[in-house]
Amino acid sequence: MKFCLILFVALGATTLNNALVFRFSNVICESHNISWFVFDHCRLKAVSRNRVLLNMMGTVLHPTNNVQVHAKIFKRANGYKPWLFDFKVDACRFLHKNYNPAAKIIYGLFREFSNINHTCPFVGPQIVKDFYLKPELLLLPLPTGDYMLAIRWLFFNRIQFDTNVSFVYVEDLVTEKKLNNQ
Ligand SMILES: *[C@@H]1O[C@H](CO)[C@@H](O)[C@H](O)[C@H]1NC(C)=O
Ligand SMILES: *[C@@H]1O[C@H](CO)[C@@H](O)[C@H](O)[C@H]1NC(C)=O
Repeated sequence: MKFCLILFVALGATTLNNALVFRFSNVICESHNISWFVFDHCRLKAVSRNRVLLNMMGTVLHPTNNVQVHAKIFKRANGYKPWLFDFKVDACRFLHKNYNPAAKIIYGLFREFSNINHTCPFVGPQIVKDFYLKPELLLLPLPTGDYMLAIRWLFFNRIQFDTNVSFVYVEDLVTEKKLNNQ
């Protein structure tokens, strides 16, 4: 009986600590120049309530050694509103030297699920496989909300494709309670 109670409390605590939610809610991929970049697939697959996998494959048809990334984060509040981050990164330079802190966080979240882990040039299949969001890799406090990370990819300063990824973030309820009681 006593053992059951301890088990029950332990399980309850674990459930509370897992209250944090960090998962994809939508993904849209669009090429603006199908003679340079085509998407083979781009989709989400929910495997459990808290884990949604992102699978993306696209092909760079001609080698490029000049890639710019323009990233913007939106937060939902009566439609998506620009939120805090709006930055441009020279991807070829970044892959040599992780010089941009915001790009470093985003790259840190997906690099282990992707073959986009080398320096320029890029050619052929670009793959993101079974990518899910790990809160421990975020290294950034984020208020609870619905977000969208809109990334526009340019080759030689010309727009080639967009990847817009939406996600839900819910703060850890235990931490939230502690902060409120201080
Ligand atoms: C589209 O891609 C081709 C390479 O296949 C390139 O020559 C052309 O400049 C690109 N167009 C734009 C607008 O970027
Ligand atoms: C990059 O990813 C590929 C495929 O996932 C893997 O085989 C390779 O070892 C990785 N390279 C580095 C430098 O992490």
